[in-house]
Amino acid sequence: MRKIIKKRIIWRIFRENCRLFKIIGENMTGRQIRRLLYGLLILALFVIVIHSGRTAYWLAKDGHYSGQPHLSTEDQPDYNEQQNLQYLESPIQSLPTYSPLMMEPNEISKSLLPWYFKDGLLRPSRAKKNMNTGQRTTQVWPKEQKNGDRVENQLMFIPPNYRYDDEPKKKILLFNGLSSWMVDDGQSVFISKQCPVNRCTITTKKSEAPDVDAILFRDHFSHPGHRKTGKQVWILYFLESPYHTELITYNDVFNWTATYRHDSDIVTPYERWAYYDPSVTQVERLERNYAFNKTKQVAWFVSNCGAKNGRLQYARELAKYISVDVYGVCGQFKCPRSDKCFQLLDQDYKFYLAFENSNCLDYVTEKFFVNGLQHNVLPVVMGGRRDDYERIAPKRSYVHVDDYESPKRLAEYLRRLDADDDLYNEYFRWKGTGEFIDTKFFCRLCAMLHDDDAPAKHYRNVNDWWRGQGVCNNAMPWRRFIESSVEAGESAGPKPAVNGD
Ligand SMILES: *[C@@H]1O[C@H](CO)[C@@H](O)[C@H](O)[C@H]1NC(C)=O
Ligand SMILES: *[C@@H]1O[C@H](CO)[C@@H](O)[C@H](O)[C@H]1NC(C)=O
Repeated sequence: MRKIIKKRIIWRIFRENCRLFKIIGENMTGRQIRRLLYGLLILALFVIVIHSGRTAYWLAKDGHYSGQPHLSTEDQPDYNEQQNLQYLESPIQSLPTYSPLMMEPNEISKSLLPWYFKDGLLRPSRAKKNMNTGQRTTQVWPKEQKNGDRVENQLMFIPPNYRYDDEPKKKILLFNGLSSWMVDDGQSVFISKQCPVNRCTITTKKSEAPDVDAILFRDHFSHPGHRKTGKQVWILYFLESPYHTELITYNDVFNWTATYRHDSDIVTPYERWAYYDPSVTQVERLERNYAFNKTKQVAWFVSNCGAKNGRLQYARELAKYISVDVYGVCGQFKCPRSDKCFQLLDQDYKFYLAFENSNCLDYVTEKFFVNGLQHNVLPVVMGGRRDDYERIAPKRSYVHVDDYESPKRLAEYLRRLDADDDLYNEYFRWKGTGEFIDTKFFCRLCAMLHDDDAPAKHYRNVNDWWRGQGVCNNAMPWRRFIESSVEAGESAGPKPAVNGD
């Protein structure tokens, strides 16, 4: 589609030049000849710029692949790439009305962004099927792409046989009511979110349960009482970690899951980072020094002192080797208003402890995305595993505790960063290469419900998947390095109570 726009732009310039040729035929002055040559020069320059731009794009892309082998395992191509090349037949809805010659280069590229970016205009068209195999070329289901969350693919997905306004609507029952969803019943959310696939309606009437296309259970499951037909999908929606969500006591009820886990059918992350161009993950030059005028080291805002992963003990141990200011009931610092607290992170502190309350697969919350990444502070993370953050977070945007054998070693590294502005600033080069996007859950749900090729599936025992072996790990390997200091009589603080958030 880049090509389509470029062709249109070149065509416009060509037309301008044709007008000049007509003038030449009628009466030519020296001034007009100069104008003609000037026009031709611009055309030539434009073609050169576009050509070299494209070359650079491909070069950069190859570099991206070689630099990140984990993204390109066997049959799992980078999903961002997928979306650019395969879904879109004629995606541009409206061309900018101003002259292309007046456009800044980045305005051109912004208008080429998919629709779910702030200034994005690119809309999907129906997904295609492979001519030879009859298989769809999209990857929207977990078994089609194992190492990604498919969020962007789903946002750009229109099923191959979708008939737009002639398509019958799918009905979705919100079994636990509207209140926590912040949507109205009917079709309005699908219209207001500008969903590419918007032929869905929402209801909360439980009496309709046997007839709807999908039932969404949020946080809590109680059996609707009817026998479900083969076509109806039941969806489990969880936001909290396995430690803080209810145990499901039925087998064979859920077809799909909607959680923060990347292998959910419809992934619902706390926040979702998306690059403008997946081959550009770092800016070349930083515009500012993120360490400038910062006088303090580590901050932590925390309200639950007894988390199962021992984060408080870790922070107390860390505090023996680097200054850690703990705000909230577990610490000695207070900061009543959240905007003031965030200002502290922006202006005073170098590091922020984005410690989750559970160490579980993919469990990364707004503590990391909002408190950390959306302020000018470097997050130190505990929660998901290293691979999870690598998949979820912008490149080089955090320090993971698992990379250090003990709190002491981590403190040594943070002190090194504290003393070296260049090294510290390396962790901010992702800023400006993308956006936190609105992942439009209901748009994706509607698109997936309309997918006639959706593989039939259900979870035999959803607990095995959600809280089975290896999903959560509170082993705390760093503990053995600090046990000795506890025995030696040093205070390790009160033992964490065992309660939830
Ligand atoms: C530097 O920090 C001090 C204290 O935090 C603040 O008062 C001052 O305005 C800051 N200076 C600049 C240029 O931001
Ligand atoms: C949904 O799950 C049921 C089992 O509970 C299964 O019989 C049915 O085929 C599934 N439907 C879809 C569309 O996956």
